[in-house]
Amino acid sequence: MRLLILGGPGSGKGTQSQKLSEHFGIPWISTGDTLRAEIAADSPLGQQVSETLAKGELVSDKLMIALIKERLQQPDAAKGWILDGYPRTAFQAEELDFFLDTLNTQVNYAIWLELPAHALIERSENRAAIDDNPEALRRRIETLAETTIPMLEYYDYRQRLLRIDGNQPPDDVKREILGGIS
Ligand code: AP5
Repeated sequence: MRLLILGGPGSGKGTQSQKLSEHFGIPWISTGDTLRAEIAADSPLGQQVSETLAKGELVSDKLMIALIKERLQQPDAAKGWILDGYPRTAFQAEELDFFLDTLNTQVNYAIWLELPAHALIERSENRAAIDDNPEALRRRIETLAETTIPMLEYYDYRQRLLRIDGNQPPDDVKREILGGIS
């Protein structure tokens, strides 16, 4: 199973990715967590992206595409994966498909967790990551509307988009996802 878990900040991507990773026994790959770990380790990549994350902007397509290609070629990703927060731009979506073609595989479903903006803000306010300050959060929600929501058309057109009500208890969200992909 190869799933994309997409949604706004605080929509529950990480929560659902963890559940689905356990359910299917496949790795959970979070681009946001990977970038935050690089920042915490003060690695060259971390230094390169820390300002971008702190502002709530998207990291460049070039860096993200290279990061994902490298990760998806690790042995544990051979039989499937849950990609949390990737892709976020139409270019990333296209490049992901081109890359998966070279591996003779494809995305099964892009799962979109739908929530009103006020619910996203409420949930993210309860966290304390470097990009959860009010200004960065506002920018992340703007970017979602400008760049990521238009990208959903890419998956909708290919009949691989599954829209899920993210504004319900976590186990109900998981049940709705599993019902939709079976
Ligand atoms: P990323 O880490 O993906 O940040 P995000 O989209 O802001 O998402 P969060 O991790 O904040 O939230 P989540 O949806 O995982 O929700 P969670 O399960 O934690 O990305 C961070 C940054 O990295 C980006 O801004 C960008 O700069 C960069 N980046 C990442 N990917 C990129 C890409 N592809 N291209 C370019 N740049 C990229 O839940 C949140 C809270 O809600 C928790 O407290 C949880 O307990 C609670 N909760 C979850 N589900 C429910 C529920 N059903 N009901 C009630 N509460 C719930």
